[in-house]
Amino acid sequence: MKFYLLVVLILLGFVSTHRISYDGYKAFRIRPTTISQLKTLSSLSKKPGFDFWNIPRVINKSIDVLVAPDLLESFQTYLKTNHIIYHVLIENYQEVIQIENVALKSKRLREDVSFKKYMTYEQIVNYLKTLAKKYPDIVTVQSIGNTENNRSIPLIKISTGGSNKPAILIDAGIHAREWIAPPVALYTIQQLVENATNIRLIQNVDWLIVPVLNPDGYTYTFNNDRLWRKNRSPGRRCYGADINRNFDFHWMEGGASAYECEETYAGSKGFSELEAQALRDFILANSENIKLYLTFHSYGEYMLYPWGYTSDLPDDEPELRTLGTAVADAIEKASTIGTSYTIGTSTNVLYEAAGGSDDWTKGVGGVQLSYTIELPGGGSEGFNPPTRKILPVVRETWEGIKLYQAYIEKKFAN
Ligand SMILES: *[C@@H]1O[C@H](CO)[C@@H](O)[C@H](O)[C@H]1NC(C)=O
Ligand SMILES: *[C@@H]1O[C@H](CO)[C@@H](O)[C@H](O)[C@H]1NC(C)=O
Ligand SMILES: *[C@@H]1O[C@H](CO)[C@@H](O)[C@H](O)[C@H]1NC(C)=O
Ligand SMILES: [Zn+2]
Repeated sequence: MKFYLLVVLILLGFVSTHRISYDGYKAFRIRPTTISQLKTLSSLSKKPGFDFWNIPRVINKSIDVLVAPDLLESFQTYLKTNHIIYHVLIENYQEVIQIENVALKSKRLREDVSFKKYMTYEQIVNYLKTLAKKYPDIVTVQSIGNTENNRSIPLIKISTGGSNKPAILIDAGIHAREWIAPPVALYTIQQLVENATNIRLIQNVDWLIVPVLNPDGYTYTFNNDRLWRKNRSPGRRCYGADINRNFDFHWMEGGASAYECEETYAGSKGFSELEAQALRDFILANSENIKLYLTFHSYGEYMLYPWGYTSDLPDDEPELRTLGTAVADAIEKASTIGTSYTIGTSTNVLYEAAGGSDDWTKGVGGVQLSYTIELPGGGSEGFNPPTRKILPVVRETWEGIKLYQAYIEKKFAN
């Protein structure tokens, strides 16, 4: 009996040292109304104990921040004395994680796709392999590279054959904790491959989809730290670089960090990271065909296009804006959850962030049309939407993706 108790205690200890707890962490929604409020909040974003879920940059736009228990009192005093508008979004973040954990365990999947839960990396890989077996005429799955922990980065190609067709490249999950992004890629795959009524969407356009670009980080969010963002490459003091600051186009010119412990650490040099290298090499090898690049992130409901390194506009800004606006409108029209996108260049709408995959893809990779889509978040229910909202999000986003397809087919297919 005593021995049994000891084993249980050791196991509990093992689990608790390996899983980060967010017990007592509170999430706040803040609305800075002056430049000085914005500046003070920005300075906090570099301090340990503050996790900004969106980076403070614009006046009167709400910012969500998660605050560690030992900083709560001084933070709330600071907000009150400075008359900053805020409310508590989530009382105790660990409770959100516990609800999520129950949902994760609810159903074991082998080879099917699900939009009733968030799937693990292994489950996603198994689904892709199953499709390749079941639909060999239109599906091929390849690895575009391996990660630090030797996980393969899978890419699924959906094509009815023939050469010189325009292609749409989609990735998701560059940032590990943005769990709602991979399901959008998976729903696209499912609708294109398994829904026969969508056959016309693959007749004149090829699809190249990477549902999880950061397998190590993504797996780490399931097993260790629910809010991990970067990859898992080892540094001298901290793990991980922000893959979406690591692309070598105006690298480190703004909105990125040179300190490896920070969330936006850009890596030791441009393309130091395996995941960024893998995507770069794939795009360069296929740049003649790729006509549209979509990269899915969360959250914020932003439809963004280059540039992210400067507030200057690209020459073809009107085309990028018109197309992005039409897509955002289609999504909003289909939305059952009140989604509303803000459209514009990354720098002007959101914040300066050099080294992003969208900038490099357009600036160097030869893909004229390049978009970063910040999907809806979970609001008071967490960083990600609760599982019952996965289906509404992927369905409404799919309406926008179909519009992108129609544009590419019309412009490039003959
Ligand atoms: C922000 O909102 C406040 C009112 O809450 C308003 O007085 C101010 O003009 C707004 N500033 C900007 C830049 O929109
Ligand atoms: C990495 O994975 C590949 C298969 O993807 C395997 O052949 C290789 O042995 C692995 N290397 C290590 C060091 O585990
Ligand atoms: C298949 O696609 C059609 C429209 O393209 C849609 O109406 C239908 O709901 C889809 N079926 C499934 C099972 O997703
Ligand atoms: Zn992101």
